[in-house]
Amino acid sequence: MDRLKEKMNKWKECMETKGLKVSVIAIPQNRLKTEKVGLSSVLAPERVWGRLKNLHKGHCMVAMARKAAFFAFAFLMACVFLRSHGAAPGAAVQSAFRNASTPLSSPHDDRRPLRAGKHGHRRGRWWRAMARDPSLSPRFPRAIIIGVRKGGTRALLEMLSMHPSVITAEKELHFFNTDEKFSKGPEWYRLQMPPSHDDQVTLEKTPAYFTEPEVPGRIASMYAGLNITDLRLLLILRDPIDRLLSDYTQLMHNRGERGKARPSLDEVLLTRDGKHINTDYKAIQRSLYAGHMENWLRHFSRDHLLIVDGDRLIREPLPELKRVEQFLGLPSFLGSDHLYFNATRGFYCLRDVRRNRCLNDSKGRPHPNVNATLLAQLQEFFRKPNHKLYTLVGQTFDWA
Ligand code: A3P
Repeated sequence: MDRLKEKMNKWKECMETKGLKVSVIAIPQNRLKTEKVGLSSVLAPERVWGRLKNLHKGHCMVAMARKAAFFAFAFLMACVFLRSHGAAPGAAVQSAFRNASTPLSSPHDDRRPLRAGKHGHRRGRWWRAMARDPSLSPRFPRAIIIGVRKGGTRALLEMLSMHPSVITAEKELHFFNTDEKFSKGPEWYRLQMPPSHDDQVTLEKTPAYFTEPEVPGRIASMYAGLNITDLRLLLILRDPIDRLLSDYTQLMHNRGERGKARPSLDEVLLTRDGKHINTDYKAIQRSLYAGHMENWLRHFSRDHLLIVDGDRLIREPLPELKRVEQFLGLPSFLGSDHLYFNATRGFYCLRDVRRNRCLNDSKGRPHPNVNATLLAQLQEFFRKPNHKLYTLVGQTFDWA
């Protein structure tokens, strides 16, 4: 008992010097055994203190881990919120919208275009770039490729993206032809654009714009409201029959992917009696360029619109690219060393700063054979609307 008392005093002294209060409670001997607390540990305060300290450290670490997890979660939620609202932290501190009504021409400099990376990396790269260079900012497009679907829009965008004065939005935004997106307003649209310098041209492409009736009016009124008067429209057109076959090929490919039936060309292009062209078929309507063009010319003057020859862009891209450079007022830059013909693909590919690259396999798929009767019917069907288009735009094409 004396030994125990002596030990208890030692305990008290030891713990009190470490700022701990000690209360003495009696525990029956058998309980001590079951709890695996031997008398030696009861009698060794330094050892118990060591354990207490470790326990305390453990608590601290758990608390720190909890705090870190909380902050990580809060950061993640903030990112998700900003992303869903189209904002970028870097953009928030950027200066307010810069007046984009400066002329499109700019002295050529050596800067490489800031390219959008793939998928989720894109915005991270933009924020970092804007943090490094405060003169970078997302800007409203000063040129839009409005279509036409399957006209060669991707090839045109990619080729122009090699120009140091052109910054391209990689994704098709469908801003003006989707009510839900359009309702988000101009600022949302601007923030979808990759950052650019003031003297660069931001270029967006959404091929569906050309054939959606509400789009020209929406673009015209939004840009008028923003006081941007120098917007340029690029339209790439291809022989309407080739475009139709390309569209059909794409649509059937998509149906195949979804496990759906793939009707034959005759089934979709002809009426049930097989005698007439089926004008209800969307892909046929998209190839009736004149009607869509009339709608655009109600809102834009002809000199704001350049029609790129899509058939020529396939055979001989450079002259078409030079026309675009001139139309956008860009310094002459693109040359034969930026393109090379890839015999395996049967198309021109890009000799980019970083690497040689061709468009992906979804471009240049083989088209179905068209029998002579159907081909003659299609040629007859498109003859009049084609001529109407030539008159409307004051430009001819060597379409069949
Ligand atoms: P096909 O796949 O029918 O051959 P879009 O990009 O508007 O969807 O247009 C696709 C079309 O671009 C392709 O249609 C292809 O013919 C054409 N194109 C033009 N230049 C091309 C290029 N350099 N590489 C691949 N396809 C090109």
